[in-house]
Amino acid sequence: MRYILAPSILSADFKVLGSQMKLTEENGAEYLHFDVMDGMFVPSISFGMPVLKSIHTATGQVMDVHLMVQEPIRYVEAFKEAGADILTVHLEACEDIRATIKKIRDCGMKAGLSICPETDVEEAEELLGEIDMLLIMSVHPGFGGQKFIPQSLEKICTARKMAKAQGLELDIEVDGGIGHFNVRDVLDAGVNVVVAGSAVFEGDLAENTKKFVEIMKNYG
Ligand code: DX5
Ligand code: ZN
Repeated sequence: MRYILAPSILSADFKVLGSQMKLTEENGAEYLHFDVMDGMFVPSISFGMPVLKSIHTATGQVMDVHLMVQEPIRYVEAFKEAGADILTVHLEACEDIRATIKKIRDCGMKAGLSICPETDVEEAEELLGEIDMLLIMSVHPGFGGQKFIPQSLEKICTARKMAKAQGLELDIEVDGGIGHFNVRDVLDAGVNVVVAGSAVFEGDLAENTKKFVEIMKNYG
C-alpha cells in the first residue's frame, strides 16, 4: 500500500499559488487536492476549470479533484480537459452514480466516490468494485479548517474491511481536520491518501509538508 499526501489548495495563498504547489511537491506531496464548490451542494463557492487548467502544469503532481457539486456528471469532460487525473464525486450529489463513475473512467480519469459524514459507509459497498478511490469526509464539506469528526475513524475501518472482503486494494482517502497530531489515527484505521489543507498551508509550508510525508513514509 502506498501512502500519499494530498495538500488542499483551499488553504493556499493564491497570490503565490504556483510556488506553494512547487514547495509541496519538493517536500514529497505526490497529489494536489483541488476542492470545487458550487454554492448548491455546499453553501460556499471556490474555484473551477479555468483555475485548474492554468495551474495543473505548475508541478508534476497528480491533480486530485474533489467535486462538491450537484450533478457533477455535467462537468466530467470539462475537468478532464482542464487537467484532472482523479475526479471524485459525491454519492449524495448524483442521480445516477454508476453512470457518473463510468463516464469519469471512460474519459480516462480515475474515479473517486465521496461520502459525507451523515452517509453510512455501507451505502458505498456495492460500488467499491467500480471505483479507484473512496473519499471519506471527516468534516461537513464546504470549508477548510474544521474539526475532525471522531466517528469517521469507525467508517474508515469499516470501509477498509469491506474492500478487503471484496479482494480490493482500494485507495481510501480522508478529508477534513487532519493534522500531524491525528494523522496516525486515520492511517491505523485504514486510510492511505490523506488530504490536509490548513495543517499544510498555515505556518511553515515546507516543514509542515515534510513532517506529514515523514510520518506517512515511516508508516508504510
Ligand atoms: C472541505 C474540503 C477540504 C478542506 C480540508 O470541504 O473538502 O479539502 O480543504 O481542509 P482542512 O485540512 O483545513 O480541514
Ligand atoms: Zn476536499
